[in-house]
Amino acid sequence: MTAIDTQHALDRTTDEGSPRRPEDLDTGAVPAPDLHPGGVNHLALATCDMKAQLEFWGDVLGCPTKGLFWMHGVEDTFHGFVELSPGCWLSFVQSPANPPEPVWGVSHAGNAASPVTAGAMQHVAVDVGSFDELLTMRDRIRSRGIQVMGPIDHGFCQSIYFAGPENLSLEVCFGEALDESRWIDPEVRDLCGIDAEQMERLKHPAGFTRPDDPVAQPELDESKPSMRYPRPVLDAIMSTPDAEMWDRVENTPPVP
Ligand SMILES: [Fe+2]
Repeated sequence: MTAIDTQHALDRTTDEGSPRRPEDLDTGAVPAPDLHPGGVNHLALATCDMKAQLEFWGDVLGCPTKGLFWMHGVEDTFHGFVELSPGCWLSFVQSPANPPEPVWGVSHAGNAASPVTAGAMQHVAVDVGSFDELLTMRDRIRSRGIQVMGPIDHGFCQSIYFAGPENLSLEVCFGEALDESRWIDPEVRDLCGIDAEQMERLKHPAGFTRPDDPVAQPELDESKPSMRYPRPVLDAIMSTPDAEMWDRVENTPPVP
């Protein structure tokens, strides 16, 4: 299957019901200036063994599989979604190009305390709603023959640590809101090169009000983060109008 399906996109826009074009979805509502991302929708993790990952997250941790389909816009690659909560998933990505072996300290940390390349996942913590639930998860994981460290009390959360397939470094925690007046250490702040005034800005980020007209795509500034594509591909992507990008990939469920 090729994921990019232009004919499908054309069909969809002339189908019955509301066409869901960007201009139809834009109500003009102006969110509050303090809008910020509200949670992780999905964390994408590479895999070479989708079945092993879905079985682990299902049998060991009780997370149902909610999706298993070709990854939109990526050849020969599929996605598996396990649900952590409604609207929050782990999304495994299996490509024949994924290297199978970890490079310790580079691609994988192996535990929640070891080094790994900047920008790589060091470990991921998933959430439960009470300390009793944390103990239940500890026992569920151990009942599947997997060793668990903890619980450990971090003050603002309590955590258990263990490993997942393909050397995932995992944590389950039960936590509370972080009180920044007590959990920002001036010594660490100084070591990070953050002065008191900068810290205040970090604690209270500037708001943003959406302007009447869309903000134009900026020119590539190589001093700023950019997605890694061959330069001509990146330029082609970033010069494609948003309304045209909308229809570039498959978007209907694979089962009617
Ligand atoms: Fe953690």
